Amino acid sequence: MSSTSKRVNAPEGIEVRQLKDGEFEPFFRAVDFGFGNDTPQSRIDQERRIFEDDRAFVALDGDQIVGTTAAESVPMTVPGGAAVPTAGIAYVGVKPTHRRRGILRAMMDRQLGESRERGDVLAALWPSETPIYGRFGFGMAVPMEHWSIPRSHAEFREAVDFPGRLTIMNPADALPHLQHAYEAARLVWPGMLSRGTDWWGFLLADPEHERHGATPKIHTVYRDGDACEGYVTYRINPKDGPSLEIEELVWATAAAHRALWNYCLSVDLMETIRYWNLPPDDPLPWMLHDSRRLRREPTDGVWIKLMDVRAALAARTYSAEGRIVIRVHDEVSWWNDESYELEAGSDGASCAATNKTPDIELSAADLAAAYLGGVSFTNLLAARRVDETTSGALERADRMFIGERMPWCPEEF
Ligand SMILES: CC(C)(COP(=O)(O)OP(=O)(O)OC[C@H]1O[C@@H](n2cnc3c(N)ncnc32)[C@H](O)[C@@H]1OP(=O)(O)O)[C@@H](O)C(=O)NCCC(=O)NCCS
Repeated sequence: MSSTSKRVNAPEGIEVRQLKDGEFEPFFRAVDFGFGNDTPQSRIDQERRIFEDDRAFVALDGDQIVGTTAAESVPMTVPGGAAVPTAGIAYVGVKPTHRRRGILRAMMDRQLGESRERGDVLAALWPSETPIYGRFGFGMAVPMEHWSIPRSHAEFREAVDFPGRLTIMNPADALPHLQHAYEAARLVWPGMLSRGTDWWGFLLADPEHERHGATPKIHTVYRDGDACEGYVTYRINPKDGPSLEIEELVWATAAAHRALWNYCLSVDLMETIRYWNLPPDDPLPWMLHDSRRLRREPTDGVWIKLMDVRAALAARTYSAEGRIVIRVHDEVSWWNDESYELEAGSDGASCAATNKTPDIELSAADLAAAYLGGVSFTNLLAARRVDETTSGALERADRMFIGERMPWCPEEF
């Protein structure tokens, strides 16, 4: 079985099947064509580092690839620190000549079927447009913000002090330090991904085609004693100011956060400091003298789907003890279309399908949006996306589901 088993047929004349040997390059050329990009050889070599051929599908019209999709195995941290098997779906595209005929629908059926067979608890993706993936049970789970600030207005409200030291390192020397700090952060931020050796190699490779005229990546690590507590990876873009463009600023302690932001905001000659992906609750605005000069653009980051609702609800911990019966409506992944009794607390949870009367009812996509704590159920009620059948149940669910930190996924996959 390689689909969701209530199979969605491909449109007439189109075959959807797994990628075969020798199709890797044409696959990438088709992906890039769909997004309007070139495919330099260095990109093919770079993608080879992390690509999982057996998780890739193509749609064919004769011998022409007209659609692509693939998944990467990217275990995602859920509240409480467990990393659950997750399909990171990417490389999704359909040729402009073949759009709106149901090819994406047929490909998603295969991709999600493959994910279910593997036993993934979650699937995740970065959508190119928000209206596309709700229909497949994905909800916007990880809100994020783009930030920029002129260096001339980036003063802190009080002098920044920290006990450790900052060092710029080459990628090979930086790697063990980056891994150490990342691993500490990953345990406390829902939405972060476990990174294996291949993934780190992919991130540190830094091929020319990813620079777009900016410098190679610069890695600055913060250590107190031997232990690395955080790091920033950035580029200088000389065409734009110049500006300091942060790729990733990861911190495991408040001292590391202070030290790294103080560093980024005080590099001489920079006009602007930008960071493309922060969680909305980052403390920096509260540390600045003139925080309005920090321009913040809220947007959506990662969307997730609960491939297995029962396993997902049982995998995380909860901020308050409670019992709740949730009716989940899921037309696409029909195996999730059930009522679930969740008995949960700070040590973990048990969850089972039930015939009991539900306390709340919502779609699988909306439960996915609330799952990591990125939106409250009461907010979803105000948006008329959830029904409360037992008075007070949504407040109870909020006390259980919302954690100390907003979810964050610092990277694209
Ligand atoms: C997005 C894309 C993959 C859709 O492929 P497609 O084969 O045209 O999609 P389908 O015909 O299977 O459409 C499935 C459903 O999604 C809807 N849909 C597809 N693309 C949409 C879009 N961009 N905006 C809103 N709805 C969209 C369709 O209307 C259809 O709805 P319905 O079945 O409920 O009537 C394709 O337009 C594309 O390659 N775009 C450029 C690259 C891109 O954005 N890729 C997605 C990366 S995350």
